Amino acid sequence: MDDSAQFREAMSRLGAAVTVLTTDGPAGRHGMTASAVCSVTDAPPTLLVCVNRANRSHAAFTRNRTLCVNVLGEHHRALSGRFASAGATDRFEGETWAARKTGAPVLSGAVTAFDCRIGRIEAVGTHSVFFCDVEEVILSCGETTGLIWFGRGFHDLRAPA
Ligand SMILES: Cc1cc2nc3c(=O)[nH]c(=O)nc-3n(C[C@H](O)[C@H](O)[C@H](O)COP(=O)(O)O)c2cc1C
Repeated sequence: MDDSAQFREAMSRLGAAVTVLTTDGPAGRHGMTASAVCSVTDAPPTLLVCVNRANRSHAAFTRNRTLCVNVLGEHHRALSGRFASAGATDRFEGETWAARKTGAPVLSGAVTAFDCRIGRIEAVGTHSVFFCDVEEVILSCGETTGLIWFGRGFHDLRAPA
């Protein structure tokens, strides 16, 4: 196994929450599935998000500078597949989306969502690292179940009773 294959294999064992990143603005509405999302600090609330520059959404994020991190629940497996598949015609169809502070689409029923503006952007290898200033946090009022990507597959996660 070469170094990058070994790295990818190791990363498949690092479980991560599944999100759909969305944007809207002058470059139009786009969205994609992502698990490379991480907290940087809560003062000021900041996330980092890693997006492959080969992805079609990449140009839209850099032009719009808006990005909503929609955290998915167990009932969003199909949605997650659609936002990761190049073949899907309209990824947004069949769900309810609302614009809040930045105008990036917020998914109704997301476990939680972070409505952000993209600040600093760093290029590292194949990816851009977006440092995202959180303008608003939207917490789901319903039951919270998580969706985790681990071992190259989806797994449900329930909060302790
Ligand atoms: C569970 C999962 C997690 C993913 N995480 C990321 C990620 O963090 N960053 C990324 O660039 N692509 C990630 N992808 C791949 C993109 O979702 C995929 O390449 C998508 O088709 C890109 O869409 P676009 O080309 O329309 O932007 C992930 C895919 C899956 C299934």
